[in-house]
Amino acid sequence: MRRPLLVANWKMHKDRGEARVYADALRDALTDPELGAGEIVIAPPFTALETLAAALVGSPIALGAQDVSPEAEGAHTGEVSAPMLADLGCKYCIVGHSERRGQHGETSAQVSAKAGALLKAGLRPILCVGETQAQRAAGKTAEIVAEQLQVSLPRIDPPAAGNLVVAYEPIWAIGTGVTATPEQAQEVHALLRKHLRTVFGAEAEKVRLQYGGSVGPGNIQALMSQPDIDGALIGNASLTPETFGQIIANSYLENTSP
Ligand code: 13P
Repeated sequence: MRRPLLVANWKMHKDRGEARVYADALRDALTDPELGAGEIVIAPPFTALETLAAALVGSPIALGAQDVSPEAEGAHTGEVSAPMLADLGCKYCIVGHSERRGQHGETSAQVSAKAGALLKAGLRPILCVGETQAQRAAGKTAEIVAEQLQVSLPRIDPPAAGNLVVAYEPIWAIGTGVTATPEQAQEVHALLRKHLRTVFGAEAEKVRLQYGGSVGPGNIQALMSQPDIDGALIGNASLTPETFGQIIANSYLENTSP
């Protein structure tokens, strides 16, 4: 049984004061023990990590980062390493988000190195893949995401695979209000799982697969009811604690209903 994983990707939003206010509000919203069934992570900008770590002490909410250097230390101006993130209390880190691939020319080979660096430092990578609208329209979705996954996976032995999270984020669904249907998402997730089985064997069943792209309180239940959708990576709708709390509550209800 894979534990549901809901991650708030704040992207480049919120200063430290806003992060503190948000953390307090979300902690209040999660006092109902039912809401603690899944694993909840907030990934703020680097600048709010320490503040959020302090604000989340004693809560079930974990900390994540949005990017990392493949190097452990050295002359790499502007970079932040995996051991530094571990030192801040991060448990997760997003790598290969389409905004980094698209805006910063990040390659799948670099993503693989970053994911490997995270695992070495004891963090769990959330490795993102996803196709553009044009690629989907051309019938190339399966080919594109399989190729991205193949090259982006860290070079690890199968027993380490359980620490890996893969997020399917179709680029056409990010920030657009257009969500992949649960069936469209499941189709790609099944394909990702199949590919993971060829690489990691039975350990592939432990890899959690998240969907991302215009997830909100109204569509989380249907998405999470799919067999290979184990969680969600949430952008805009995670920016207010009330909405994120609602997403958490709705995902839980669906997963445990008979
Ligand atoms: P939205 O939820 O705003 O579509 O963003 C998705 C995303 O990119 C999460 O990483």
